[in-house]
Amino acid sequence: MSHLVAYGTGWLAAAALACAVPLPLSLDLLRRLHRPAARALERRLRLHYRLGGTAAALGVLHGLVSITRAPLPAGAEAGLWLACGAAVALVFAAALGAGLRALGGIERERARRRHLALFVAAVVLGGLHVLLNGPLPT
Ligand code: HEM
Repeated sequence: MSHLVAYGTGWLAAAALACAVPLPLSLDLLRRLHRPAARALERRLRLHYRLGGTAAALGVLHGLVSITRAPLPAGAEAGLWLACGAAVALVFAAALGAGLRALGGIERERARRRHLALFVAAVVLGGLHVLLNGPLPT
């Protein structure tokens, strides 16, 4: 598969993720500050669902189109395993997010915290993957 598709899907996944996350984080902040604007933002959450789902799908697609049989140095090999972890974390975050909508009370709080933790795990693992495998084709 061409480098353009392999690297492009990775960066598109990162871009979708970067666009998906500010909305619920701002919502959380506005709620804590008891701002009425939180209501308006709640009505826009569908955008977060779409972008979050797209980020997870692109993360998996990026992994599939980047599969290679070429022998790699140990660092790059480790980077690919970390990338697998990032893709799994993204898929679980999206699945948990979809279930989160139907929950209420303390269960929703717990699920939201796990959803957030999975996002952080995906960012850390994805960041290490970029460091070890490089941001662009060489
Ligand atoms: C993998 C992609 C996704 C990431 C990285 C992500 C990330 C986040 C983050 C960081 C928050 C804020 C958590 C907090 O403030 O404690 C959040 C909230 C939320 N997300 Fe996601 N999300 C993703 C996908 C989805 C999907 C696909 C859905 C639903 C179909 C979804 C539903 C929700 C809901 C319902 C909330 C809580 C909003 C509220 O506070 O009322 N997420 N997400």
